[in-house]
Amino acid sequence: MTKSKTIVITGSEGKIGKALKAYFKKKKFRIIGLDKKKGFNSIYCDITNENDVKKKLGNILKVNNPDILINAASIIPKIKKFKFSDYSSKKWTNTLKVDLFGSFFVSKICCKYFEKKNAGLIINFSSIYGLSGPDQSIYGKNEKNFGFKNLEYSVAKSGIIGFTKSLSAFYKHSNIKVLCFILGGVESKSLDKKFVRKYLSKIVEDKMISTNQICKYVEFCISNQESVSGSCIKLDGGAEAIF
Ligand SMILES: NC(=O)c1ccc[n+]([C@@H]2O[C@H](COP(=O)([O-])OP(=O)(O)OC[C@H]3O[C@@H](n4cnc5c(N)ncnc54)[C@H](O)[C@@H]3O)[C@@H](O)[C@H]2O)c1
Repeated sequence: MTKSKTIVITGSEGKIGKALKAYFKKKKFRIIGLDKKKGFNSIYCDITNENDVKKKLGNILKVNNPDILINAASIIPKIKKFKFSDYSSKKWTNTLKVDLFGSFFVSKICCKYFEKKNAGLIINFSSIYGLSGPDQSIYGKNEKNFGFKNLEYSVAKSGIIGFTKSLSAFYKHSNIKVLCFILGGVESKSLDKKFVRKYLSKIVEDKMISTNQICKYVEFCISNQESVSGSCIKLDGGAEAIF
């Protein structure tokens, strides 16, 4: 009998993390979730705190050798009117910390195990906002010097693309693979209908991607690891294809 694979998922209580947890649980994967929110199969861990990561994840990995890491934790701040020139440095830093430091801390510890067995896969999540700046007019009424969607999210998501490329290149001579999915808007009942209409008018597809569809792409890459490393795969509904 083949051993079931162990998968570490950060942000395991978020929209995508929860879907991944449920999807791979059904496929008999062993799940280790990490989140700042409590939940089934999740450990409370602040991934921006390296000691917390070392202590909590470190202890579990000693007995559950990881095969796959999915970095899905992120801060997606609420849509709120703001002026860039007044924007809070604290908010800016907090968002960057999760993507740019949290992913680093968790990847570092998993890679210790990947290096030992010369095998492992890291899947990161970026966004179309890591490629292009958000069009503020889809989030609210256009007003000079005011916007709604935070800018540091784009900085964090560009960083994830850089992290994916540099780490995959770093592991060129080993069997450790790193890739990322660049997502467009993800379907959710909680999204404002007016926003969804405006968003869809800007992309090729006529609906947002579902979390189930994302899980299927993740599963495909887990089962077909031969040529995935270094790839930043766009699942953006054609957002970049239309002007
Ligand atoms: N939902 C979308 O429309 C969308 C679009 C493009 C990209 N993405 C990307 O997909 C990934 C998953 O998004 P999502 O929709 O599931 O987000 P989400 O906000 O629903 O979930 C993120 C999770 O990360 C957790 N988290 C935040 N800070 C943490 C910390 N310091 N330590 C541990 N956990 C922490 C949160 O508690 C939350 O459960 C993110 O990288 C996001 O940027 C999402």
